[in-house]
Amino acid sequence: MTVMNILAIESSCDETAAAVIRDGHTALSNIIASQVEIHARYGGVVPEVAARSHIEVIIAVIEKSLSDAKLTWDDIDAIAVTKGPGLIGSLLIGVMTAKTLALVKRKPLIGVNHIWAHAFASFLDAEKPEFPILALTVSGGHSALSLYHEDLSREVVGETLDDAAGEAFDKVAKLLGLSYPGGPAVSKAALEGNPDAYKFPIANLGKASFDFSFSGLKTAVLRQVQQITGVNPGALDGVKSYQLDPQVVADLAASFQKAAITALIKQTHKAYLQYQPKALVVGGGVAANTYLREKLLDIIPEAIFVPPVLCTDNAAMIGALAYQKYQKGQITDPFELTADSSLELI
Ligand code: KG4
Ligand code: ZN
Repeated sequence: MTVMNILAIESSCDETAAAVIRDGHTALSNIIASQVEIHARYGGVVPEVAARSHIEVIIAVIEKSLSDAKLTWDDIDAIAVTKGPGLIGSLLIGVMTAKTLALVKRKPLIGVNHIWAHAFASFLDAEKPEFPILALTVSGGHSALSLYHEDLSREVVGETLDDAAGEAFDKVAKLLGLSYPGGPAVSKAALEGNPDAYKFPIANLGKASFDFSFSGLKTAVLRQVQQITGVNPGALDGVKSYQLDPQVVADLAASFQKAAITALIKQTHKAYLQYQPKALVVGGGVAANTYLREKLLDIIPEAIFVPPVLCTDNAAMIGALAYQKYQKGQITDPFELTADSSLELI
């Protein structure tokens, strides 16, 4: 039986990643060179620094993905790459590298949407989802509920009206003086806190809406910090000049996490009942959150969570979606492929 090996490349933000995916579901290798330490000192991703760092490591990362998979270029049947959305300078490095390799090595090229790929990471699990798939995709830049159909079309049924879920975690982490990236730091602090210590709001956008909104919640946390410290963090311009007691930080983190996650679960459950999909999958960085996993599985035990290591940015998910596209003949002309930082809905 012939197998199909796709070499996938991801460089949309602050991870330079490459993976080899066999037959759309097995990761023979999954290399992720993270820039977290580089950006942590600035408290967030600096686009120019990210792009430069991708250039420095991308070839080594690709070579390692081949050697870890114990394969050579002859074994690779196609090349896949993230075409957007993301930071334009970062995307360009992956796209230019993939185009060049596709032409030089004479391989078909498949351009992939990063947001879609977060949901298709679920195909790398033992339990493969069936179409139509309702996907909750919650990352640093996006929060959406989408329906994916057999023909690989996507219908967005709900999305954030303001901040993405991960962005809200990152901003609240900053307010609490926690380290970057904020999501893991907030959920770790929350383990020691009381989720009912503070009552934070959950946006009510009406019965018929499957959208999200986190700006009211974020402002409520800011006001609470202001009340506790007597300092307005909003007027500090990023300079931290207050110190919160660790137990207060834990209680604020736990109460914020409860409100943010309850909002995600409420809309997801409503959409699940309304659209009755064959599968519900949850992916993206925030899907690594343990509280979200536990609470959603309590309500929808059949929900498929992307494995934690594949929730945050990686190239294995790019390969998983590329395989589905290849099966449908959705190949990209290397001369036509362009990086697009705002590619959200196609
Ligand atoms: O998918 P991802 O790696 O990158 C984007 O495409 O944006 O998501 C990163 C986001 C960050 O905002 C990070 O704070 C959040 O996912 N995140 C978490 C957790 N782990 C990562 N948020 C909540 N709980 C976590 N355990
Ligand atoms: Zn992502």
